[in-house]
Amino acid sequence: MSWIVDKSYRELARIREAKEKQVYPYFKPFESGGLHSTINGQPIVNFSSNDYLGLTTHPKVKEASIEAVKRYSCGLSSSRVQATTTAHVELEERLAAWYGYESCLLFTTGYQAMVGTIMSLADQDTTLVLDNLSHACILDGTFMAAGTPRMAPEVRFFNHNSARSLRRILGSRERKNAMVLLEGIYSLDGDEATIQELCKAAGEFENTVVVCDDAHGTGTLGKGGRGIFEKYDLRAELPVIVSTFSKTFGGIGGILLGQKDVVDHVKHYARSFLFSASLPVPIVAAAATILDMLEDHGEELVAELHTKAAYMRKNLTDLGFDLGLSNTHIMPVMCRDERKALFTHVAMMESGVMMVPITYPGVKKGEERLRLNVTRGHTYEDMDKALELLKIYGEAFFILGGDELAPMEE
Ligand SMILES: Cc1ncc(COP(=O)(O)O)c(C=O)c1O
Repeated sequence: MSWIVDKSYRELARIREAKEKQVYPYFKPFESGGLHSTINGQPIVNFSSNDYLGLTTHPKVKEASIEAVKRYSCGLSSSRVQATTTAHVELEERLAAWYGYESCLLFTTGYQAMVGTIMSLADQDTTLVLDNLSHACILDGTFMAAGTPRMAPEVRFFNHNSARSLRRILGSRERKNAMVLLEGIYSLDGDEATIQELCKAAGEFENTVVVCDDAHGTGTLGKGGRGIFEKYDLRAELPVIVSTFSKTFGGIGGILLGQKDVVDHVKHYARSFLFSASLPVPIVAAAATILDMLEDHGEELVAELHTKAAYMRKNLTDLGFDLGLSNTHIMPVMCRDERKALFTHVAMMESGVMMVPITYPGVKKGEERLRLNVTRGHTYEDMDKALELLKIYGEAFFILGGDELAPMEE
């Protein structure tokens, strides 16, 4: 056996075990798009989707994509350097105007946008300062930058959402410039960044720039859905925003917003932009159509999401569920035990409600949870059904009440 087969077999032990016990929860194929779909012919309401405004399957969005396929094609077979269309440029200009930033650059994914932004701006004169719960794209961009010969920045972490810890790191950094990397909403815990305090702390230090990944704040925070900077009026304090089309914008694609020269610099130096194919035009057209909706009705769409999220939060807390750090529409149901999370997920799936479990190493041991995202696309019937099932299985598997499950028989 080759060592790669040997390694793969060894390291898949936990996954094999979960599959044998029929509690493996991932990669279940949907038979149609949207929050209401089917798996193996069975109707499923998806509460683990990031389609926060429920616009992904809007007929106008689909129609715009179909028209774009007809006019252009599915893909453009090259990177943006030689595969930019008027649709890309127009959407970049419209997004910059809508967000109120000088310039915008579209990447093929949000992950690439963050990796490319970090790698092209950080160098040997930079200290990268990360929240210790940062998303993989921030970590990977940082580690790739740190591995770049002769350009490696210093890397430091501060305690999650702690301005005090941030001050300590900024005050003891070794490099001239600092880049603080934050997220608007942390998606595993559903808590907002303590952005006002963190920006204030960063502002006390020279040559310090804050970069915010607002993947989960776009479409959900701020009156018009522009994100955390809009909610707290922090455009000046947050000169660089990275976001994505993979949540509210219903597709895939990365967004970089900032001053013109900064965005232009990233455009010419980010390897994840230059060496990966251009965002397909049907996706650009879908995002442009969702932007039309945000421009015309953003406030109503966001308000409806918040009303539904408040309904779910009240009912979950009345039932006694622990929602951890959450203070947004992302409300992890804390199980704090892997088997409780897996069993509840399986039981709920059998009744048509999907809440994907998040287990170690996605979260620390003892912090296992179900991913529950409320979206504007969920109906009150969907939420009531989910609440009823959560109550039944939460009691059956001791998520409510806090007792321990009996040990499994071998
Ligand atoms: C905070 C955060 N940043 C970036 C990304 C990556 O975005 P994309 O799916 O567009 O690559 C995600 C998606 O999971 C995310 O949660």
